[in-house]
Amino acid sequence: MNNSTENNNVSIYSYISASILLINIIFFTGLIIFLMSHAVSNYLGISSIKESLEKQSASIIQKNEHSDTTTPVSSNHNASGNPESELLTKGKALYATCLACHGQNAEGNKILNSPILSGQQDWYLKAQLVKFRDGLRGVDKNDIQGAMMRPMALVLKDENDIDAVVAYITTLTANKPEPTIQGDIKKGEQSYAICITCHGADGKGNKSLNSPSITGLNDWYMATQLKNFKNGIRGSDPKDVTGAQMRAMALTLQDDEAINNVISYINQLGK
Ligand code: HEC
Ligand code: HEC
Repeated sequence: MNNSTENNNVSIYSYISASILLINIIFFTGLIIFLMSHAVSNYLGISSIKESLEKQSASIIQKNEHSDTTTPVSSNHNASGNPESELLTKGKALYATCLACHGQNAEGNKILNSPILSGQQDWYLKAQLVKFRDGLRGVDKNDIQGAMMRPMALVLKDENDIDAVVAYITTLTANKPEPTIQGDIKKGEQSYAICITCHGADGKGNKSLNSPSITGLNDWYMATQLKNFKNGIRGSDPKDVTGAQMRAMALTLQDDEAINNVISYINQLGK
């Protein structure tokens, strides 16, 4: 009795292990077939994509060669392939970073202490972006507003980026900012006498003296800058030659009242 149960058990075990072996064989064969077919189809797929890409780029190159020979050297009015418009397209994309603070039309934003840029001379905008980038402006520990601007100038990675964003800014137009500062215009006129040498009687600036236009600026921004120059927050780096020139001039304005007076005078220039 015992013996026959044992025999039965042995045959059940061998039956089970035989079936497990069979299942394994079926499973692994399936797996191998699956993997192989996958690899083959992958290979075919990639090579056919590669082939069609090669065909496409060949036809693009052909088209370009064709248009190069048929269209004469593009005029300035031609939108595509024109370095000038390419610079503007790049500049517009770069300006997306600036927009949040300086505004859609570079009109500035008082709440963010960000000045108007529209209407300012391109050579001056470039010079200031370089100064922010190179740490001649916006690095003094008391220059909270300059510190907001400095990392933005660092987004512009080379001269071409600076040229591009400035080229775009100079296409923007904004209204002359409303005055926010009231002072004694008569007294301001007297203080302004010394400013004429560089910024001109009309305040439009003088490129050969690196002096920007100061009409059409936000008066609150000018007040901050005149104080910054006076306090050495701007224009005190030995490498900042033009800043140092302006710093000496800001020091001729005795106090905040004198600053407000000269700004009131500048406000009504070019009206
Ligand atoms: C986070 C806000 C912010 C962003 C974004 C920003 N700026 Fe400014 N920008 C300022 C502030 C604030 C000042 C004024 C700094 C000061 O008071 O010295 C300034 C000043 C400037 C000046 C100097 C203007 C002058 O009259 O001297 C230029 C030029 C300028 N920004 C260009 C740009 C450009 C170009 C970009 C985009 C790449 C940009 N800014 C992005 C906040 C910003
Ligand atoms: C010797 C020439 C010279 C004289 C005189 C002069 N400035 Fe300037 N001014 C400059 C230069 C150069 C700059 C640009 C500084 C820089 O590159 O950072 C400047 C910048 C400024 C700015 C900052 C503009 C901006 O967008 O950030 C203001 C405001 C200003 N001057 C006002 C005045 C006033 C007001 C006077 C008279 C009290 C005056 N300046 C006299 C040369 C001069």
